[in-house]
Amino acid sequence: MLGRMRGCLALFPAFVIAMAPAAFAQTATYKEPYRPQFHFSPAVNWTNDPNGLVYHDGEWHLFYQFNPFGDLWGHMSWGHAVSEDLFRWKHLDVAIPEDGDVMAFSGSAVVDRLNTTGFGRGGEAPIVAIYTSRTEADQTQSIAYSLDRGRTWTQYGGNPVLDAEDPGFRDPKVFWHEPTRHWVMAVVLANQRKVSLYRSPDLKTWAHLSDFGPEGAHPVSNWECPDLFELPVEGEPGETRWIMQVDSGMGHPWLGSGCQYFVGSFDGTRFTNENPPETALWLDWGRDFYAAQSYSDVPADDGRRIVIGWISNWMYARDKPTSPWRGAQSLPRELRLRRFPEGLRLVQLPVREIESLRETRFSLSRAGITETNERIADAGFQGEKLDILAVIEPGSAQEVGLRVLQGKEEETLVGYTASPAEVYVDRRKSGEVDFHATFPGRHSARLREEDGRIEMRIIVDRSVVEVFAGGGRVAITDRVFPHPDSTGLSLYSLGGEAHVDELEVWKLRSAWE
Ligand code: FRU
Repeated sequence: MLGRMRGCLALFPAFVIAMAPAAFAQTATYKEPYRPQFHFSPAVNWTNDPNGLVYHDGEWHLFYQFNPFGDLWGHMSWGHAVSEDLFRWKHLDVAIPEDGDVMAFSGSAVVDRLNTTGFGRGGEAPIVAIYTSRTEADQTQSIAYSLDRGRTWTQYGGNPVLDAEDPGFRDPKVFWHEPTRHWVMAVVLANQRKVSLYRSPDLKTWAHLSDFGPEGAHPVSNWECPDLFELPVEGEPGETRWIMQVDSGMGHPWLGSGCQYFVGSFDGTRFTNENPPETALWLDWGRDFYAAQSYSDVPADDGRRIVIGWISNWMYARDKPTSPWRGAQSLPRELRLRRFPEGLRLVQLPVREIESLRETRFSLSRAGITETNERIADAGFQGEKLDILAVIEPGSAQEVGLRVLQGKEEETLVGYTASPAEVYVDRRKSGEVDFHATFPGRHSARLREEDGRIEMRIIVDRSVVEVFAGGGRVAITDRVFPHPDSTGLSLYSLGGEAHVDELEVWKLRSAWE
């Protein structure tokens, strides 16, 4: 994939590179067609992976892979925004720019509370970014720090701090491991499909601990953007597990990019997968969720494990029909670990802060599909920014679901089939789909009814549909590009009678106003 991207860079028009980013910034209104209204997207230009997710001094920092000079991949730098509530973002200057021909690839950030680096001054704990310095020939790990709440950054004079002499050595995710009182880095050997673990006392000198992989889904093109963190097992006091997450640019079963995770243990040196090595667990079953990273330094009294992913796919990321920006980030999601008959699995839901965007509400309970549609129509309830909770009894129906972003000839389907028991998003008629041959499709995940019911939380944001079904057991994220008039909402059932147990729909306000 990187080979393909290098190709794009070579073709990059010189006049675009010459244009100042500020010139683009004036053209962004956040009212453009397809512009998500409460998902993060840069004012202008290209973004891919979220980087350096860290909480510090009342602010959630979102750094992101960014091209300051255009809307295709290239000149990779760290763009930067901050938010007090994970939804209303303020754009800041580029934090880590490309340096000559050395790009700043993905990585993470931590708050160095103990000043192990010695970068701290006057009691101010530095935020330290750990990222990949990438040239055509090499990928090594570098660090930079900030003493002013992330506003300005200084490169460490001793960079690079880690070099494995491997051209696919990238995407360092660092965390403080209290039991060994060391920093631990998870970093990929992308082409070998391995995560290497390292340890450091000061973020400057690193010692190799162990390697994990390849395991899980096979075949996949590569491993990128690892994460490693501990989660409590819900409802089992004292029980925890470690989650190792990796992303694959071309991952089965998608024609494209996906995120998988492993459940196991970490003893300070080695991660051990507790499932058979071939077990493949996916964080999201849609086509548009990649390079997820979790927040560092979330305060202990909050304690959530919050992740954000890039809502795109390397198959068609460069072809998406948006301007003057290209690429966006997912809703922040809270991850939990829950025991199911098949084993311990991640569940995820949008963070509760989304409720601050709620405006008007429509709700009903115990109604047939036809009655539900009549009542939605009577209330004139529709929209392109919705937070929907539907609890449906499929009954004798073979298939049941919701049509969102519905217009005269457009609809995005979010549904459930009884046999096979699965939830799906079908975007084949969702609007503009022809910009890439792999874009139209129906994306599904196995999920059984519980007590004869299927529960779906559906977030709709103009060109983003994020579905969390079965209490978050299954997530499906898909981008869609509907006509601005396609704001209808209705339900359907096929091959039998289904009932709506409960339906609650909120219109959401824009976070960019
Ligand atoms: C994943 C990725 C990373 C790399 C970055 C470059 O999407 O390929 O491995 O650091 O994008 O932009």
